Amino acid sequence: MSDWDYLWVNAQLVTMTTGGGEYGLIENGAIGVTADRISWLGAMNELPVRAQLDSPRVVDVKGRCITPGLIDCHTHLVFGGNRAREFEMRLKGASYEELQRAGGGILSTVAATRAASEEELFTAAKKRAAALKREGVTTIEVKSGYGLDVESELKMLRVAKSLGDNDPQLDVTTTFLGAHALPPEYASDRAAYINLVVETMLPRVCGENLADAVDGFCESIAFSPEEIERVFTRARELGLAVKLHADQLSDLNGAALAARYDALSADHLEYTSEAGVSALAKSGSVAVLLPGAFYILKETRLPPVSLLRRQQVPIAVATDANPGSSPVLSLLLMLNMACTLFSLTTEEALAGVTRNAAQALGLLDDRGTLETGKRADFVIWDIAHPSELAYMIGGNPCVDIIKDGKTV
Ligand code: NIG
Ligand code: FE
Repeated sequence: MSDWDYLWVNAQLVTMTTGGGEYGLIENGAIGVTADRISWLGAMNELPVRAQLDSPRVVDVKGRCITPGLIDCHTHLVFGGNRAREFEMRLKGASYEELQRAGGGILSTVAATRAASEEELFTAAKKRAAALKREGVTTIEVKSGYGLDVESELKMLRVAKSLGDNDPQLDVTTTFLGAHALPPEYASDRAAYINLVVETMLPRVCGENLADAVDGFCESIAFSPEEIERVFTRARELGLAVKLHADQLSDLNGAALAARYDALSADHLEYTSEAGVSALAKSGSVAVLLPGAFYILKETRLPPVSLLRRQQVPIAVATDANPGSSPVLSLLLMLNMACTLFSLTTEEALAGVTRNAAQALGLLDDRGTLETGKRADFVIWDIAHPSELAYMIGGNPCVDIIKDGKTV
């Protein structure tokens, strides 16, 4: 049996490839792996005649669904402390922006993150990653951005990277988010902080190979488009890809800014204009929607989903897991919220945590769909149709996870 080392049979194969039917579904299919790759995939009746279905290397999944391993393409999983008390304050009427301007919000997490040791940050983040993993997540992106000084940013990135070390289920990509908030010690000299990011942090991050991409928070409570441009210009000179927290609370033309730098993605996008959507369509950037932050901040302005569809901008969905605006450790819940709050179809939502999430990380050639040659990352779910993943809240139907061709 040279076509595969292991074969899973009698599966609903939710390939998520485009061009075929809904969900790229292959009903009653089989999927084989050789080493860490998908080496065979098709309908049961196309299996080669020599296939020995009684071999111990063949697993009968009895009509269950198999999807690509889920990808959470936007998280802030590494942080010190939590902001449950701030959640209470917001329930009593304080707004996210007010708390931020009063030195709370992101800056309170900065203080806790600076004070935490690498071990403490790792232990806390590992627990959060475990929650994501239980729901079939096999790849996550993790940002820095709560250190905001050279050593603390590097510390966060080292912790983020190490989450994937020796973890048989999880690959981690890291993103440097030095331009997340202005640290208190630079409150009276914004330019000096951007200089620090551009002249010291970025070269160190790049030199020590700690980040796959560079992100920024473009917002009146964070950084201006001009400040972000300085960061992006340097990032691109250093050969790093960029992405942006864009147009979350107001329209600063963040999506168009991201597009000008060929961003992998522009994220949030509640206030993005039609021109911003067109710019994303031209640059081929992914629109990452974050329903957890929309929900927690009780936002009412919806991201421009119809425009994104019309202009064929790929839409991804992520947890934005962070201690303030999105204390969320369930990517499956985000599928439901993307449908109920943002009116995505269940198929669009699932594409948002598989194919389009892979594209948002620049990894679509390697993962995100079930196709021969791609990495053998997939999940077996105790469901009969893929729509059930977005439909049900709670009751995690994940029964088996295969990462790099191995059951974990
Ligand atoms: O993606 N928007 C900026 N950054 C995070 C929030 C971080 C925080 O509140 O701690 C976000 O929503
Ligand atoms: Fe975020």
